[in-house]
Amino acid sequence: TMDALRERHERLRDQIVAGRRNAVERQHGLGKRTARERLELLLDEGSFVEIDMYRKHQAHGLRMEENKPHTDGVVTGAGTIHGRRVFVYAQDFAIFGGSLGEAHAAKIQKVLDLAISTGSPFIGVNDSGGARIQEGVMSLNGYGGIFQRFVQASGVIPLISVVLGPCAGGAAYSAALADFTFMVRDTAHLYLTGPDVVEAVTGERVTHGQLGGTEVHGEHSGVAAFVHDDEESCLDDVRYLVSMLPANNMESPPQGAPCGATADVRPRFAEIVPVDNSKPYDMREVIAELVDDGEFLETYERWAPNVICAFGRVDGHVVGVVANQPLVLAGVLDVPAPQKAARFVRFCDAFSIPLVTLVDVPGFLPGTDQERSGIIRHGAKLLYAYCEATVPRVQVILRKAYGGAYIVMDSRSIGTDVSLAWPTNEIAVMGAEGAVNVIYRKELAAAGDPAELRAKLVKEYSEKLAHPHYAAERGLVDDVIDPVQTRVAVARALEMLSDKRKPQPQRKHGNVPL
Ligand code: COA
Repeated sequence: TMDALRERHERLRDQIVAGRRNAVERQHGLGKRTARERLELLLDEGSFVEIDMYRKHQAHGLRMEENKPHTDGVVTGAGTIHGRRVFVYAQDFAIFGGSLGEAHAAKIQKVLDLAISTGSPFIGVNDSGGARIQEGVMSLNGYGGIFQRFVQASGVIPLISVVLGPCAGGAAYSAALADFTFMVRDTAHLYLTGPDVVEAVTGERVTHGQLGGTEVHGEHSGVAAFVHDDEESCLDDVRYLVSMLPANNMESPPQGAPCGATADVRPRFAEIVPVDNSKPYDMREVIAELVDDGEFLETYERWAPNVICAFGRVDGHVVGVVANQPLVLAGVLDVPAPQKAARFVRFCDAFSIPLVTLVDVPGFLPGTDQERSGIIRHGAKLLYAYCEATVPRVQVILRKAYGGAYIVMDSRSIGTDVSLAWPTNEIAVMGAEGAVNVIYRKELAAAGDPAELRAKLVKEYSEKLAHPHYAAERGLVDDVIDPVQTRVAVARALEMLSDKRKPQPQRKHGNVPL
């Protein structure tokens, strides 16, 4: 009967927990939650529909027959976030250390296939010792099948990886292939080879945290887009992120109600940004003034903080904001910055999220170190990403925009739709001082009073080439706006561009510089 079935179902669920009481207590002792507790936090209450709970591994040998727990160490299914469907898995460290064997992998592949075929975001919660050693190459084969699906799903549905424990070896690629990876401080460890192997191979002694903690991936490697102090705030931010994304590439992002932004004059813009273009300020304050309710979700806060990438809403439209941050390294573009921004631009483009680019950039960081590290190749990623983007694009030039960095930051020449500039804009090949030193080198060398001559030439150059309407007179800027009108002008531009379509020529795929 149905009652008996339900009873069996519930008993099984409880057994899964009760039979591993120690493992669960251990998990709690580490400040970690169980797979089911995590899904409760992630999904709307009561929305989770589990599939494959009865699944067991079919492995033989190495005493595997003696231990055949249901679920095989991963809880999979569907649920909702703010009423919108998502597919999920959560690995259960209490069973075989959350390690991935053949059945475990097949379960993940099954929900991934459903996420793709139903056009739903996919969220994986990782807490695992990696490939299940007892199942040998079938475990590795399982990972490959997951990664193959991740790549097929890329640009079709949002892919989110949450790392709440170890995520070692091949498993690390589920973090790297996702659109966004979340990690929790102290408990999340993400690395290809663990401390023991590192020591055996290189002699280096490191802790799990030093090797693959949130400092490594949130600040240096650029793998973790979001770092949190605890699982609750982490899973809450996953919900916030999902609330701003379309379910798939055929949908538009969730539209909020318009809130009068097209008439919302903000005096604060002019107060935040100093007129003297060598003075720093916090671009996040500008973004807060631009977006609805001052609310935005910043990705990679600590990796390449000289460029900011954030989701927010302007008059209800979800936008991706890319902005130089004059507070860090004067906002220059160095090796990591264009990598961060390029991936963000490509994500927004794939999922129909309009781009708003706030420009205040002195250029690319010069030096042998940068050149050797491939600043040209990495800068090309951002250039490529913008050139390719067909979503509505609005550029706002606040102050300086020099040289190659101007071109790359969504200039008119690479396809921005609406370019706005403040009267403090200075768009040029280089700053006036540098320009004068190059073009008047001989005259300056021969002058009796080079300082006086230089000052005169700088003034002349600035009046001729660097006045606020120079680019607008040439159609490279569409309007020079009062800074207080920035939110108004951006909201109107987005409204104007909201039905933009830009079909692309047929090709297999481009060859983005990787
Ligand atoms: N395959 C099979 N079982 C695994 C496993 C794996 N890859 N990783 C962990 N387990 C099991 C352990 O045997 C242990 O089982 P038990 O409770 O029956 O004794 C349980 O999971 C918990 O692991 P434990 O080592 O006690 O947890 P820990 O918190 O001390 O360490 C790890 C966690 C992930 C650092 C450690 O388990 C580890 O190094 N695992 C191997 C990682 C690896 O190299 N994987 C291959 C990558 S492709």
